Amino acid sequence: MGIFEWNEKYSVNIREIDEEHKKLIGLVGQLNSAMRQGKGKDALGKVLYDLIQYTRTHFADEERIMKSGGYPDFEDHKAKHDWMTSRVAAIYKDYQEGKTTITIEVMSFLEQWVEKHIMGTDKKYGPYLNAKGIS
Ligand SMILES: [Fe+2]
Ligand SMILES: [Fe+2]
Repeated sequence: MGIFEWNEKYSVNIREIDEEHKKLIGLVGQLNSAMRQGKGKDALGKVLYDLIQYTRTHFADEERIMKSGGYPDFEDHKAKHDWMTSRVAAIYKDYQEGKTTITIEVMSFLEQWVEKHIMGTDKKYGPYLNAKGIS
């Protein structure tokens, strides 16, 4: 996978969400460069922690917006968020306990999940919420 960066193809046509996705993709990129630069455990742990915290913030905001528009696939979508939240929490815990390092495999898992989720799951609520006047 090349450099994972924001591209207009990721737009869900809701300004607040697009801004959050840009920030999320930016944090994934920061983690990737910290890993490539061979940053120490504490520095890398800090970026990973920021990424996890921001993921929680973003999921909560997105869920609030979906709910406000009465989005019918809300429960399934939230279940995907919950699964990812527990995966990244597990990665962080393993990392803190020295059971894992941030490897290419961990990075590509994160990048691929975020890309797949935006393209396959987030983009589905765009037209529905736009029709409800949310943009
Ligand atoms: Fe989502
Ligand atoms: Fe999202």
